[in-house]
Amino acid sequence: MGEQRTLPTVEDTEALGRELAAELRPGDLVVLDGPLGAGKTALTRGIAAGLGVEGRVSSPTFIIARQHRAGSRPGAVGLVHVDAYRLGGDLDELDALDLDTDLDDAVVVVEWGLGVVEHLADRHLRVLLRREPESETRTASWEWIGPS
Ligand SMILES: Nc1ncnc2c1ncn2[C@@H]1O[C@H](COP(=O)(O)OP(=O)(O)OP(=O)(O)O)[C@@H](O)[C@H]1O
Ligand SMILES: [Mg+2]
Repeated sequence: MGEQRTLPTVEDTEALGRELAAELRPGDLVVLDGPLGAGKTALTRGIAAGLGVEGRVSSPTFIIARQHRAGSRPGAVGLVHVDAYRLGGDLDELDALDLDTDLDDAVVVVEWGLGVVEHLADRHLRVLLRREPESETRTASWEWIGPS
């Protein structure tokens, strides 16, 4: 079974992202799911900070994927941040991004990726974020799916 954590503030969500980044290697796929405003982009911001990539993480409103170059420290790895919501489940559009190439040398994080992008890698880290009603608190559960 996976792990679970209560995240009272956005800083806690970003901190979880930084922690998860420590387990991520080039070629790894992270699939994020959860409703609007659940904190998927906030978690991605933490992952980006943990990896030490360049550029500010924001919601890709008009573009589908944003590439962040690896930082300058040794062993640094880049990040591809995809918003599959914009894809509307259109796999042709996703393939046109040439994500297969990027998968080899970057960490790929996909918001709204559940059931859409899993085939792109042997295994993936699945993170589900939930909102508590009338509260800032989020709950995250996560687990690696696929061969270890
Ligand atoms: N505990 C928390 N964890 C994450 N975000 C929180 C938390 N509490 C409040 N927030 C706020 O909720 C919002 C989360 O927005 P974010 O863009 O990360 O969500 P999202 O899941 O990416 O949404 P979308 O589906 O629109 O892409 C931010 O404004 C953030 O400050
Ligand atoms: Mg988002």
